[in-house]
Amino acid sequence: MPDIGVTVDGVRYDDEVQARLPLAHYLRARGAGSDVPPGCETGECGACTVLVDGAAVRSCLMLAVQVDGRAVTTAGGLRRDDVARSVRRAFRRFRAAGCARCSSALVVAAVELLRECPDPSEQEIGGRLAEVRCRCGGHVEAVLAVREAADRLWGAARQTISDRVIG
Ligand code: FES
Ligand code: FES
Repeated sequence: MPDIGVTVDGVRYDDEVQARLPLAHYLRARGAGSDVPPGCETGECGACTVLVDGAAVRSCLMLAVQVDGRAVTTAGGLRRDDVARSVRRAFRRFRAAGCARCSSALVVAAVELLRECPDPSEQEIGGRLAEVRCRCGGHVEAVLAVREAADRLWGAARQTISDRVIG
């Protein structure tokens, strides 16, 4: 069996894994089950979304051996991340978290989007969140929440810059 060395939520693991072991299964075995809940396991639902070197991936579609030497971050690993904390707070304000099945994946997707695009339109947010298929309804509240999180994170800075440009 191949050996892998991987960092999961800031902790380094060196493990022997089966060559065909899905990353999602590996992460659950490493204790990340609440942030990588069981879903379709076929790449459809997005509930298993995590960051690999900062990019969102469906962990059921990757193999554990593919993250050898890389950093995997689940929603749990984003607890101290300012962007994730702002998103979580906004989800609570907008009651957008829904059930536990996809809330972690939504946080991960929102963090990835806000890191690459601090001022996204509602359309852009909706497009990104739609990659997580929610059985409990649409993502209307979640889109509003992510937009508000962006405003709280960077709105003042944007305002200052536009004041400087205009004024
Ligand atoms: S469990 Fe991975 S996409 Fe559904
Ligand atoms: S909030 Fe329940 S599946 Fe999305």
